[in-house]
Formats: sequence, structure tokens, C-alpha cells
Amino acid sequence: MIRQFDEAYWNDRYGSHGHIWSGNPNPQLVAEVSALPAGTALDVGCGEGADAVWLAGRGWQVTGVDISSVALERAAGHAAGLELPGSLAWRQLDLLAWTPPEGAFDLVSAQFMQLPRADRGPLFARLAAAVAPGGTLLVVGHAPSDMDSGARRPHRAEVLFDAGEVVSALDPGLWQVLVAESRPRQSEGHGGGPVAVHDEVVRASRRADV
Ligand SMILES: C[S@@+](CC[C@H](N)C(=O)[O-])C[C@H]1O[C@@H](n2cnc3c(N)ncnc32)[C@H](O)[C@@H]1O
Repeated sequence: MIRQFDEAYWNDRYGSHGHIWSGNPNPQLVAEVSALPAGTALDVGCGEGADAVWLAGRGWQVTGVDISSVALERAAGHAAGLELPGSLAWRQLDLLAWTPPEGAFDLVSAQFMQLPRADRGPLFARLAAAVAPGGTLLVVGHAPSDMDSGARRPHRAEVLFDAGEVVSALDPGLWQVLVAESRPRQSEGHGGGPVAVHDEVVRASRRADV
């Protein structure tokens, strides 16, 4: 495995950066999920857990999965003592070696996974299979064009993908693609000032009738 993607790398990254936690859920999660009824949710690459906590705050029963023990300890720490209408469970797993249970989740959310292309396609397929009939798959990534934006981004362009790549992993007979776009927003550049970036956003609904 390339070192960039193992537990030691991510633990080191979380450890050396101190808290990355802003407490705020990712904007595309809020935009795409706020109108959905609560159910079971899988948040893959959940990091320090802001998305999972936000979902549980809206009544979702959330399983947050991450490879990093440091991130998950922080996630559990942030959630400790909160009285949430939903529930939270944290699992330390390598998504490249784990197949989630099929059809088990009303929502599967993957926000800013950074993996090489050869791993992404099979992972997207496993995540799609984990969505229950009638459920939602939400995949969000940094746009490849962000590499030139001045925003803080991974050093390797190969870990970025566009919405079309996610859509191509979905069987059109099983999925209705509701959103597939490169969505602009403002982020922070290296110097601290605002820069324009884009999120690649795919929201798809698994057909309930097939
Ligand atoms: C860029 S961070 C995004 C974290 C969070 N979703 C967010 O938006 O703040 C990517 C996350 O994926 C996790 N990750 C990377 N490779 C993984 C793998 N193979 N299995 C599980 N988690 C992984 C990392 O530990 C990290 O928390």
C-alpha cells in the first residue's frame, strides 16, 4: 500500500495538525441531506466526526468509519455528553479492506476521501451496494481544478476525482442520479485569504422498484 493512505499517515496528519475539528458539518452534506428523513447512515472517512454528529443531531442512526484511531478518539470525545435525538457508533476500519453490509443504510456519505483511482472505483461500488433501496448515496470530493486554486489541497492530483467518475461507477438501472456537478464555494488559501474552489458533488437515489 502507498504510505499516504495507511493508518500511520492519517494518525500522523491528525496528530501533527492538532485539532482540525471546526465543529461544522461539510456544506454539501447540509445542502443535500437536510431535506431527507432520518434513518440509518454510514459516514465513511468520518474523520473527527462533525458530519456524523450533525446527522445524529437530526435523528440519524450513524455509523462513522475511519482508518485513523486519532481521528476517531477525537470524534468520540466531541460527541461525549451530547444529547442527540439519533445515535452514533464509531468503527476503526480500512475501507479498502472492508465491505459494508449490503442494502443496510438509508444514507451513505463519503466526504473528501483521498484515494488513488484504482481504489476509488471498487470503493464507490461497495458504498453504492451498501445503500438500501430508496436510499441515498452522497459522494463529495475536492475538484481536480482546485490544485491550481491556491487552496490547501492534497499534494497528489491522482487522489482527486470529478463527479462524472462517481456517476460512471453507478448502474443506471439501479440508480437515479439527482445531482452530479462541480459546485463553487469559498475556501481559505495558503495565505489565509479567501479563494474560490469547487466541490465535486454526486447525490444519487437507489431505485426502490428494482
Ligand atoms: C480528507 S479527510 C476527510 C475527513 C472528513 N470526511 C471531513 O470531511 O472532514 C479523509 C479521511 O479519510 C480517512 N481515510 C483515509 N483512508 C482511509 C481508509 N482506507 N479507510 C478508512 N478511512 C480512511 C482519513 O483518516 C481521514 O479521516
